[in-house]
Parts: sequence; structure tokens; C-alpha cells
Amino acid sequence: MPQPTGRILILIKPDAVERRLTGEILRRIEAKGYDLTALKVVTPTPQILAEHYAEHVERPFYPGIVEYMTSGPVVAAVAEGHRVVEGVRSLMGPTDPTTAAPGTIRGDLGRDWGTSAIKNLVHGSDSEDSAAREIAIWFPELDS
Ligand code: TYD
Ligand code: MG
Repeated sequence: MPQPTGRILILIKPDAVERRLTGEILRRIEAKGYDLTALKVVTPTPQILAEHYAEHVERPFYPGIVEYMTSGPVVAAVAEGHRVVEGVRSLMGPTDPTTAAPGTIRGDLGRDWGTSAIKNLVHGSDSEDSAAREIAIWFPELDS
């Protein structure tokens, strides 16, 4: 019987793309056993970010997020697999790269030194519901 599967929306943020870390980050996700089922390069607009970060638009750090996330292209991906939300969130490490553990993407690769937004290289949906909502935002061309 096939394993029950989940989905997650991943964004490789502009500084990671600029530093040519896309392959390294996707490698870690594939190495853990997840399938990439959608992938594209896109330069975010303020409009799409306001949708994506709806829970944060009123927060004081939000203008910094917009400046950071519109500074260049991002790589958007959908990954699938058993408990993929938990698995990818674990691979990413916590929000702040300074305290993210070695072995995590943010802990190993983060270079977040004194900027207004936390530059943490990667976004991953935090629940199955967020994943469905975010996949519809970044991949409206997908059916579900
Ligand atoms: P959040 O959803 O809390 O973190 P995560 O990406 O780990 O799910 O926050 C979204 C993004 O907002 C986060 O990746 C970086 C940015 N951010 C800041 O710049 N400053 C902050 O104090 C927080 C909480 C988040
Ligand atoms: Mg989040």
C-alpha cells in the first residue's frame, strides 16, 4: 500500500539564490527522501508576499521582509512525502540562523548579520493547511 503523503511549499529566498545555494538546499530535501513535484524561478511582487505572509503584514519587521524578498528571484518548489512538513521544517532549523543547530540548512548556511529582516535562506510551510494555502498562491496553475 502506498504511504500516505503530504505536501509543503518551499521558497529558496533571494540571498540563497544569489549565493548559488539552490542546488545544495534542494539536495538536502531530496536526500531525506522527498520528491520535488513542482519547481520554478519567480521574482516575488509585494502583492504575492502580502498574500503569502498574511499573518505577518502588520508586524514591525514586515517592511524588511518585503525589501528582502523582492531583492531578487526566489526558487519556489513543492515537495511531497510522508510527514514532509515536519521533516522539511526540521531540515530547515528554527527561524534565526544564529541559533539554528549545525546540520540544519539555516544553521549550516545562514549568514544573517545585522539586517532588518532575518535572512534565513528558506521558507517552508508550517502545517498541511498552510501548505495548501501557499501552494495555491505560488502555483495557481496546479490543480489542487
Ligand atoms: P515566521 O513564520 O515566524 O518564521 P519561519 O520562517 O521560521 O516560519 O516568520 C516568517 C519570516 O519573517 C521569517 O522567516 C523571517 C521573518 N522574520 C523577521 O524578519 N523577524 C522576526 O522577528 C520574525 C519572527 C520573522
Ligand atoms: Mg512561518
